[in-house]
Amino acid sequence: MRTIRKPDQMQRFALKQRREGRRIVVVPTMGALHAGHLSLIERARKRAGKGGLVVVTLFVNRTQFGPGEDFKRYPRDEKRDLKLCRELGADIVFAPEDKDMHAGKRDGGFSAFVEETAVSQGMEGESRPAHFRGVTTVVAKLFNLTQPDIAVFGAKDFQQAAVIKRMVRDLNFPVEIDVAPTVREIDGVAMSSRNKYLTRSQREQAPVVSRAIFLVKEMLATTDFIAADKLKHNVKCMVNAQPDAELDYVEFFDSETLKPVQKVATGVHMALAARIGKTRLIDNAVL
Ligand code: PAJ
Repeated sequence: MRTIRKPDQMQRFALKQRREGRRIVVVPTMGALHAGHLSLIERARKRAGKGGLVVVTLFVNRTQFGPGEDFKRYPRDEKRDLKLCRELGADIVFAPEDKDMHAGKRDGGFSAFVEETAVSQGMEGESRPAHFRGVTTVVAKLFNLTQPDIAVFGAKDFQQAAVIKRMVRDLNFPVEIDVAPTVREIDGVAMSSRNKYLTRSQREQAPVVSRAIFLVKEMLATTDFIAADKLKHNVKCMVNAQPDAELDYVEFFDSETLKPVQKVATGVHMALAARIGKTRLIDNAVL
C-alpha cells in the first residue's frame, strides 16, 4: 500500500492507471475509520477485483463544517487509519494536506465551487447551511484527482449520497456511485466518528435515534398509512424524553426525489437528526 500526499501526484498516478486499463474504486472518508468505513473498503476491494485499485481518501474537509461546528476537534488518527487500510487490502491512501487542497490567500483564495440545488435542500441542508456545497466541491475534486470508475458511499449519510448522485448525473462525471448499507452497533446505533464524543450516559441514550425508526416501522405494520405530522409529533416526544436528547428534525420522503410525503406508508424513507448533549447524530432507513 502506498500513501500519496500531493494532489498533482495523485492525479498523475490515477491517469496512468486508467490509461493502462486498471479499474479504480475510491472510498472517500474523513478518516477516524470505524466498522462502517471498513465495510465500504471491503466492498470496494470486491468491486475492484484482482487487477483493480482501491483508493481510500483521508481528508477532514474544513469547507463542509459550519462556523460553530466540530472541525477543530474532529477525531484524527492517521497512523491507525493507515494500518486498517493496509489490513483491508487498499492499494492507495490519498491523504492530502489542507494547504494543498484549498488554494491559500497568497494564491488568490479558492473561488470555484460545485453546488447541487434540489436534493441538498431541507434536512441536513437546512440544519447545516453550506455543508453540501463543501461536500460536493471536495468530492468533485477527489473524483478529478483519483479518476474512479466507481465511488463507494454509505447509506448512513443518505442525503449526501443522493446529492452526489445528482451531481454526477447533472455534470456527467464518468463515475458509478455505489451505496452500501449502514453498519450499526449491537444496540442499533449507526456507527459514526462522532459517537466518540458521547459520554457514557449520553451513549446510553443514543439508541433512541434508531429506535424511533423501528417504532415507526412497527406502527406501520398494523395500518395502511399514518399522517406524517402525527408521526413527527410521536418521534419528537420519544427523542426528547431522553434527558440529554433534542430532536433537530424528522422527515418522511420519497427515496428517489427526497420530496416530503404527508401520508407515511411502508416503503417511504425516514430520516432524523438529534442532538445528544452537544453531539449531533443522524440516521435514516426505508420504512
Ligand atoms: P465520513 O463521515 O468519514 O464518511 C465516509 C463514508 O463512510 C461516507 O460515505 C459515509 O456515508 C460512510 N459511513 C459513515 N458511517 C457509516 C456507517 N455506519 N455505515 C456505513 N457507511 C458509513 O461522509 C464523509 O466522510 C464526507 O462528507 C466525505 C464524503 C468524505 C466528503 O468530505
